[in-house]
Amino acid sequence: MLDFINTVTIDDENSELIILDQTLLPNQTKFLHLKTKKEFWDAIYKLQVRGAPAIGIAAAFGIYLCAKNVDTEDYQAFYDAFMEDKAYLASSRPTAVNLFWALDRMEKCVIDNKDKSVADIKKALLHESEKILDEDIRTCEQIGENGLSLLKPNMGLLTHCNAGTLATGRYGTALSPIYRGQEKGYNFKVFADETRPLLQGARLTSWELNKFGVDVTLICDNMASIVMKNGWVDAVLVGCDRVASNGDTANKIGTSGVAILAREYGIPFYVLGPLSTIDMATPTGKEIKIEERPGEEIYKMWYERPMAPEGIKTYNPAFDVTDAKYITAIITEKGIAYPPFSESLKKMFE
Ligand code: MRU
Repeated sequence: MLDFINTVTIDDENSELIILDQTLLPNQTKFLHLKTKKEFWDAIYKLQVRGAPAIGIAAAFGIYLCAKNVDTEDYQAFYDAFMEDKAYLASSRPTAVNLFWALDRMEKCVIDNKDKSVADIKKALLHESEKILDEDIRTCEQIGENGLSLLKPNMGLLTHCNAGTLATGRYGTALSPIYRGQEKGYNFKVFADETRPLLQGARLTSWELNKFGVDVTLICDNMASIVMKNGWVDAVLVGCDRVASNGDTANKIGTSGVAILAREYGIPFYVLGPLSTIDMATPTGKEIKIEERPGEEIYKMWYERPMAPEGIKTYNPAFDVTDAKYITAIITEKGIAYPPFSESLKKMFE
């Protein structure tokens, strides 16, 4: 069994959210002990904790810790304070639906327990946040099983960004079948796109796959085409931040280009994610809000000196939407959805 790290946990006794600081990887493995709502917000905004499911888990623990600090016995006063903190944490990042999904689930927990004392509501919130983590671990494990059913030993696989154990409670989504295969001796050969500008592929995916002994080759984003043309890629596996009800999928910037290339070369393109990332309330990709981040991330952040003139005009969208027509299948814990996704995704929720 592979020895996975816990990326997001809670220390209730000390009222701390504990996260592995992903901005320091691969050079440092450091855990942050966060106590205040500003620290929770910053950790999500700065991508110290990142990846749609991990953001949801961190937000659930975060909102519980905020609620724990609310000093009142009055339900309405407690609820009002909860909603204020909820709105604040929800403003940290706009695209990954798991953030809102987890916060809504925590709000429902408050409402469902409104007849209890505030102390008991707090206990229920802790329990709910722990359930969100536990469920994510089991969900990712099942996504791994379902994904592996589409793969064969010795396949070449390409992935973009990081949808691994670092991005979830454990196992990952897109990387979960790779780990299941690794345990069974499948001997996959994985190409990890570096994923400009924040380098989640280089810093995180190549780090975690390498740590678990998977054969991983790091490539720059603009090399995906040549490895496909060389015949080295049998399937593309990516995660997702929000899947619209028609199957259009927001994921890390660059994913859409990879899907278009895969179509050109006749390579299946699989999206893997939990049902909590499928947003049936969003009809198409057009309605998904795409996060834009500071231009400095493109030309400054990872370099000793700026790699473009100071003050250069930039455009830095953090995600793009892959049109459903390029997606071969969407793999969830419930099973595998094939086109037309507006029908198959609906069935997943029945
Ligand atoms: O900006 P990030 O690093 O949070 O973006 C992450 C991704 O795009 C992942 O592919 C997605 O969240 C799925 S994680 C299982």
